[in-house]
This record gives sequence, C-alpha cells and structure tokens, in this order.
Amino acid sequence: MSDKTSTAGKHEVVSGEPTTERVRGIFGRIAESYDAFNMMSSMGFDRGWRRAAVRATQLTPGSSVLDICAGTGDLALAIAARGVAKRVEATDFSPEMLAVAMRKAPKVATGTEVAFSVADAQALPFGDASFDVVTVAFGVRNLPDRAANFREVLRVLRPGGRYVILEFSTPGWAPWRAVYHLYLGHIIPLLGSLLTRGDRTSFEYLNASIRSFPDQGSLARELKHAGFTSAEWKNLTGGIVAIHSAVK
Ligand SMILES: C[S@@+](CC[C@H](N)C(=O)[O-])C[C@H]1O[C@@H](n2cnc3c(N)ncnc32)[C@H](O)[C@@H]1O
Repeated sequence: MSDKTSTAGKHEVVSGEPTTERVRGIFGRIAESYDAFNMMSSMGFDRGWRRAAVRATQLTPGSSVLDICAGTGDLALAIAARGVAKRVEATDFSPEMLAVAMRKAPKVATGTEVAFSVADAQALPFGDASFDVVTVAFGVRNLPDRAANFREVLRVLRPGGRYVILEFSTPGWAPWRAVYHLYLGHIIPLLGSLLTRGDRTSFEYLNASIRSFPDQGSLARELKHAGFTSAEWKNLTGGIVAIHSAVK
C-alpha cells in the first residue's frame, strides 16, 4: 500500500490519515531507531514532557495503570520508576516496538510490577473497570478511530479513573506555530530519513498526522462528548505538546 496519497505539482503529498496497516508498518520499520529519533527530534524535551505526564496521572499508592500505544516503553517505565503504582501494563500493537521496551525494563527496578502485551488500543483485552489510570503518549494521533479508543478507555477505567493523553498539539502564538510547522515539514523528515537510512515517507506521515490532529479545545470537546465527566489540558513548550487529563 502506498503512503503517498495525492500529488501537488511535482511533489507527492503524504497524507496524515492513519490506517491500522499503515501505522503498524511504519512503527515496525522504525522500532530500532525510534528512541534516537525521539531524543534528537525533540532536542531532549521529550523526557520532560513524559515527566509532566507522569505527574498528571496523580498516582496513588497501589494504583494500577494501563499505558496504551506504549511503543518503546518510555512513559510506562517512567511511571514504574516512581515506584508508587502497584502495576503498570504496557501495551502496543507493534511487537517490534514492545521488544525494544522489554529490553529496557530490567533497568527500572522498583516495587512496581511491569507487564507487556500486544493489544490494539481500539479493542482492549481487559475487563471492565480494571485500571485506575490509563495513559498514552504520542499514540492517540495514530488511531484511525479515536471514538472507539475513548469508549474502550472509559470501559476499562474504574469510576473516577483518569485518562492522561500526552500528544503534539497546536501552539497558540502564530509566529511560534509557524516556526514549529517549518521544523515539522523540513527537519523531521530529513532527520528521520538519516536515522532510518532513507525512510523519509514515515516521517512525512508524522508531520502530516500532527498537522491534521485536533487542537487542544477540540480534543477536550471530543473527550467530553465521548462520556468523560471532565477534560482539562495543560500546554507544554508553548503548545507544541499538550497533556489532556480526562476523568471518568
Ligand atoms: C509515536 S509512538 C509512541 C510510543 C511511546 N508511547 C512514546 O511515548 O514514545 C506511537 C505508538 O503507538 C502504537 N500504535 C499505533 N496505533 C495503535 C493501535 N491501534 N493500537 C495499539 N498501538 C498502536 C505504535 O505501534 C507506536 O508504538
């Protein structure tokens, strides 16, 4: 299947539309380079963004946490490193990404039990009301059916449980937004292509998917529409990234 969906003049335009096959293919291909790309493309900011997401979970001792779209495990392992939760279940539909996460897990030795499983975020293989917190970092944007994911998260959360979403967003200040979009359009595909030896299309998809993702207010409205009782957000790095926190 081609990722190039239309042409504009001489340049092919890569669509940001996620499909299961396409997204799984991309992450399967880039799994081994993903961490290096993350660190370089965010200039190290990603670690602070994940730390802020851990704080947003408001973990209490003994809580059980589900991290979906866990990828190479950085958010799940940051939660485990706090040693507050009883258990963290890290899930992703890409076995290649989870394999990287599992290699990193032994370095995090706390009282928190960590488990890994392959699961689609739109059809979670867990019972009703089985988690206190569900988290996702840079994953919701890749789901073809966000409404299905919100339904599933509401189902597996206990009443009063919290869904914390860390995701790229829309900077409010126009000059900063313009700089960010230039970076996304030009530097990200170049850097990604260098790290993966030529897989530029995957990183053009990344740019397109960020630009077509709803802004902060629209995502909060979607969450409330789905049935969460509240949905608030906090901007990080001038709105390049936002953390939404929605309560069941
Ligand atoms: C950009 S990575 C983020 C990984 C990690 N959470 C992080 O913060 O670095 C997105 C992840 O979402 C996963 N993913 C995308 N669609 C998914 C789905 N429908 N179900 C489960 N995982 C999915 C991909 O395999 C990939 O590992």
